[in-house]
Amino acid sequence: MINETVGIIGGTGWLGGSIAKAVLAKGLVPSGNLVISNRSGNHPLVQQGASLVTDNQDLVDRSDIVIIAVRPEQFASLNINATGKTVISLMAGITAQAIAAQSLASAVVRAMPNAAVEIEQSFTPWYCSGGVAATTKILVQRLFECVGTAAEVQEEDFIDYLSALSGTGPAFPALLMMALAHQAMLAGIPDDIAQLAAKNVVVNSSQLLANRDAQQMIDALVAYRGVTAAALQAMSQGPFEEQIGRALQAGAAVARKGLQA
Ligand SMILES: NC(=O)c1ccc[n+]([C@@H]2O[C@H](COP(=O)([O-])OP(=O)(O)OC[C@H]3O[C@@H](n4cnc5c(N)ncnc54)[C@H](OP(=O)(O)O)[C@@H]3O)[C@@H](O)[C@H]2O)c1
Repeated sequence: MINETVGIIGGTGWLGGSIAKAVLAKGLVPSGNLVISNRSGNHPLVQQGASLVTDNQDLVDRSDIVIIAVRPEQFASLNINATGKTVISLMAGITAQAIAAQSLASAVVRAMPNAAVEIEQSFTPWYCSGGVAATTKILVQRLFECVGTAAEVQEEDFIDYLSALSGTGPAFPALLMMALAHQAMLAGIPDDIAQLAAKNVVVNSSQLLANRDAQQMIDALVAYRGVTAAALQAMSQGPFEEQIGRALQAGAAVARKGLQA
């Protein structure tokens, strides 16, 4: 448990709300030390003891650490003065410099979780700009470990690139699942069976990778020299990896260009 008060601007949204719920459930932040804000008021998190405010400056004044979990286009209208505070931004495509300039925060951390915060399975890379105290870095790491795994990165550009990789969360697996199911249906497999098979591959069978090395898994399956080997060989003959590279670069380019309104 920490002594600091944590404020989450946008603390009832997908990311902000999931983080708020997890830090309370894991006991990292006592409910009396959690302040969340939104514009619409009223949220079930209040029943767990968090304070809900609609005045973001009030939240900032009451908090030691301020997490900004609004959408990038909503940032410009926040109008907060966070002088002397550490601000952790979850916003894609807004630089630490822009956040510091607009919020007057003393230190800025850019973190990039993904939608799997909802099930505490996110990976969250984070980057510190300016003088962030070692004790604050430990707190940031612990905070994001409440919703999965986390790691500090040393370059801000890594956050923009990783926004398009881990930041996309379930997006690439969803695309793969759709492609597998669609191709099976085209090949005459009944729709429901095709969807069950594709979902199993992406959601269930892939859990074997949680504790195994991906390359060793591929090598072991290819060693059978059978069906899997033929399928993977056909896949690797096409521009699969190049296409992945192009997708990541396209997403990163949008993050680097900036998403502020
Ligand atoms: N979702 C993802 O998969 C994902 C992944 C990586 C990064 N991110 C980043 O995470 C951030 C949040 O995304 P999200 O998906 O959680 O968005 P979201 O669900 O739309 O949540 C945004 C929250 O901000 C609140 N809000 C908006 N304007 C506000 C204001 N002026 N003051 C206080 N609260 C305000 C909204 O509540 P009210 O409408 O009630 O005000 C809402 O609860 C974004 O910047 C995004 O770039 C998201």
